[in-house]
Amino acid sequence: MQTLDQLEFQNKRVLVRVDYNVPVQGGVVQDDTRVTASLPTLRRLLDGGASLVLMSHFGRPKSGPEEKYSLRPVAAVLEGALGRSVRFIPSLPGSDETLAAVQALEPGEVALLENVRFEPGEEKNDPELAARFARLGEAFVLDAFGSAHRAHASVSGVAARLPHAAGLLLQREFEALSRLFEHPERPYVVIIGGAKVSDKIKVIENLLPRVDRMLIGGGMAYTFIKSQGGQIGDSIHEDDQLELARRLLAEYGDRLLLPVDVIAADRFAEDAQTQVVPADEIPDGWQGLDAGPQTVQAYTEALRGARTVFWNGPLGVFEFPAFAGGTNAIARAVAELGEEAYTVIGGGDSVSAIHQSGQAERVSHISTGGGASLELLEGRELPGVEAMR
Ligand code: 3PG
Ligand code: MG
Repeated sequence: MQTLDQLEFQNKRVLVRVDYNVPVQGGVVQDDTRVTASLPTLRRLLDGGASLVLMSHFGRPKSGPEEKYSLRPVAAVLEGALGRSVRFIPSLPGSDETLAAVQALEPGEVALLENVRFEPGEEKNDPELAARFARLGEAFVLDAFGSAHRAHASVSGVAARLPHAAGLLLQREFEALSRLFEHPERPYVVIIGGAKVSDKIKVIENLLPRVDRMLIGGGMAYTFIKSQGGQIGDSIHEDDQLELARRLLAEYGDRLLLPVDVIAADRFAEDAQTQVVPADEIPDGWQGLDAGPQTVQAYTEALRGARTVFWNGPLGVFEFPAFAGGTNAIARAVAELGEEAYTVIGGGDSVSAIHQSGQAERVSHISTGGGASLELLEGRELPGVEAMR
């Protein structure tokens, strides 16, 4: 990969693609991990005499600008974190208006553009849009590790049109995750959670042959349990994935661990009635929303002695405190491995859980990428990384 050492940026306007797709509620940024993770690159460029034009996506707006997907709230957070004023440019990022605004930047000044996904060509990697982005800088730095798996105009499209380099975050993430892919020390245990099997089935399939143990958690577990004839009540599941779940269990049943008990709720709500039941005996009208105590114990034991651990995805409905217990317990179990293991955590909820546990510094690497980290582990070349070669 081309690095910052190989890029000329003194007195240049540098276009930096960051990933500021952060959780925002009611206009307030809930977690600034991705903003602070970008600071080393921004400081390095500013100290070297550049002016900065930052661009990012935020959420998944469907068609054009929408106030709830504006990056404006992030500008204030960045300003606080960076300790310099940040100019927010509200016009469409590919427009002439935006170009005029960034042309006025002096060395040391920083501008943040509006959500690149307000441009219809962004996700299609429209070459015309990529060319309009390329006008905004004299060099391009990709530091958006969390978006490096997207072949979008602001990620790979623009890179081909400007002298470019990977930022420090992209580089660090790539190195930390490649170590998992290339030569993991064994036992290698992977924990995959989250709602849907279909989101992660590719990674599950590709990782199973490489790992010693895979612990399945969250909503996707119910598809696996149903595929074995278990009673899952009203739990979330995907009937079109049952066959695949069955096949994976037949082939890799010895290394795939499923929940043995769950906390079932009488409705999908924070204040629902709950009971602990066997994972394959969930009564009709009830749904599993978190891992049960025996599951937590079994998974904690499966982690003991591991030398390499990767964890992505919550074990329950983490956003409801009543169903966050399983995820929090796994966060502690991973952290407790301490120096004994190389531990990596990726994905929003798992990362929040490790921060809440207060033990984040005991984990070897906390990734700012969810989907991007999973695709790297599968052994896929990420379009963003490829563009920096
Ligand atoms: C993420 O949060 O996973 C990244 O920012 C990518 O977002 P996306 O899945 O909407 O492309
Ligand atoms: Mg994602």
